[in-house]
This record gives sequence, structure tokens and C-alpha cells, in this order.
Amino acid sequence: MQQRAEQIRRPGKTIAFVPTMGYLHEGHLSLMKHGRKVADCLVASIFVNPAQFGPNEDLSVYPRNPERDMSLAENAGVDILFLPTAQDLYPEGFETYIIQENLPDHLCGLSRPGHFRGVMTIVAKLFNIVKPQVAIFGEKDFQQLAVIRKMTKDLNFDIRITGLPTVRESDGLAMSSRNKFLSQNDRKSALVLYECLTKARARVSRGETDAGEIIKTCETAINSKNDTDVDYIRICDPETLNDLQTIDKPAVMAMAVKVGGTRLIDNILLFPPGTEPG
Ligand code: PAJ
Repeated sequence: MQQRAEQIRRPGKTIAFVPTMGYLHEGHLSLMKHGRKVADCLVASIFVNPAQFGPNEDLSVYPRNPERDMSLAENAGVDILFLPTAQDLYPEGFETYIIQENLPDHLCGLSRPGHFRGVMTIVAKLFNIVKPQVAIFGEKDFQQLAVIRKMTKDLNFDIRITGLPTVRESDGLAMSSRNKFLSQNDRKSALVLYECLTKARARVSRGETDAGEIIKTCETAINSKNDTDVDYIRICDPETLNDLQTIDKPAVMAMAVKVGGTRLIDNILLFPPGTEPG
């Protein structure tokens, strides 16, 4: 892959890169379709990265379907699909990891210790292997995008990071490879995440500023659904991820909820009156 990347870059051509863990859905494909437009060559990777899963998480059952993924990626315009093995990327004796000081100590990082260390390490490795000029990530994983932007800046990766909006099912559920684990009843309960987020957004746009009050309403709504278990609901500064008590500037509301045992995350930006972009 490194040699291919060199060959592509030598005559001045550009590479766009979309890293994934596979089991592709429209969310992944939207990143690929964008990548297709912004560079000469589009590379995507599929690698279920063991380093970002905790000991009691779903690494062994993470959904996989490489044949289907290959045809979806090809249709989305991917030129090179990079499918390394764990042995390729973490051979015996591998012992260097990337850590970051602040952003990982919020939101998902608190319930998934070591997760962002694993994410940053694999993304940095993939950047060095694929050598892209632009890399594309989803805002669905808001904290991941923030951590990667910061890592790219702090470590001087010469790569432009693009974040793209969350792609949703027609009823609002954010697309995720893990949605496959939801039973029919879970699938109904799962709608409450986006319902809460859109209601919160509407309340803030009408002038509500009390973060605690909005979070409490959401918690009650989520707890009223079957088989839900709130991990966190927070309203924070989109850059530092520090909690906001008063929403007097644009904020991000982020949540993680277990629905029937499947951990789902989602987020939305909140704009107090007069702060909407554009
Ligand atoms: P994965 O969950 O497969 O997601 C790959 C990329 O797709 C991420 O940038 C993610 O934010 C984006 N994505 C997922 N669901 C989306 C949706 N509904 N709408 C838009 N984009 C969406 O995130 C990872 O893999 C891994 O942590 C990875 C970055 C590949 C490192 O292992």
C-alpha cells in the first residue's frame, strides 16, 4: 500500500482516504462519495481494530461482510480497498501507542478507557501507510473526529481532515454497523435518541439555556422506553468537550445509550437564538 501510494503521489496526484471497520452502510458510503470528488485516487480501508475495543466489548462479534463491502465500495467509487490483517498491523512486538491529554477524558472516553488510544494509533498508522492528502470522517462519532483533528494538528500530519454530517434512516436513527444487533423492539426504543436530540435543539433555538434541565427531560424520555440504559447525556463545548451549564453559545449535545445491550451513540449541534451558522 505504501508503494502504491508513492506511485500515485509521485506525478502529483492526490489521495483521499476513508478508514472504516466495514459492514458498510450509507453513512460510510457518503464519506466515500465525497472522497471520490475531492481527490484523484480514493482509498478506503476495512479493519476491525482490536486496539480500540475494551476486554468486555464486542470485538469478537463485530459484524463483518467483506464480499458485500467490496462491491459497495466499488460502486461508491473506491479505487483501492485496503484490507490489512491484525497480524499485518500489530505484529508480535508492537508496542507504540498514541495518547492525547484532554479530549479523550470526556464522553465515550470515560466509559471506554483506552478506546481513543486505540483509535489514534490505528488512524496514525493508516495515515502513514495510505499517505492521503485528505481524510474523511463522520460527525456521528463527534468525539473521534475532534480527537483525530487534534492529533493531526499536534503531530503535524500533512493531511486535511474533513468531517461530514450523520446519515440517518428515514425515521431518524443514525446509521451504524451495530444497528444490526437491534431486535424489532430495540429498534423502536432506539428512535428516542434522535427524538430527544431534535427536541433539545428546538428548545435551545427557542431560548432555553439550562443544560441540566434539557438533560433531565431527555433522561426521563429515554428511561421510559423498554430496555434502555443511559451511559451518558452531555451538553458540551464542541471544541473542548467541557460540560456547559448554560447554553449561551453553540454547543454539542452527545449521548450514549445501551438499547437491549447494544451501545448506540448520537449527537446534535445546539444553537441559541442568533448563533445559527450562515
Ligand atoms: P466505523 O464505525 O466503521 O466508521 C467509519 C467512519 O464512518 C467514521 O468516520 C464514522 O464517523 C463514519 N460513520 C459511521 N456512521 C456514520 C453515519 N451514520 N453517518 C456518517 N458517517 C458515519 O469509526 C470507525 O469505524 C473507527 O473508529 C476507525 C476511524 C475506522 C478507526 O478504527
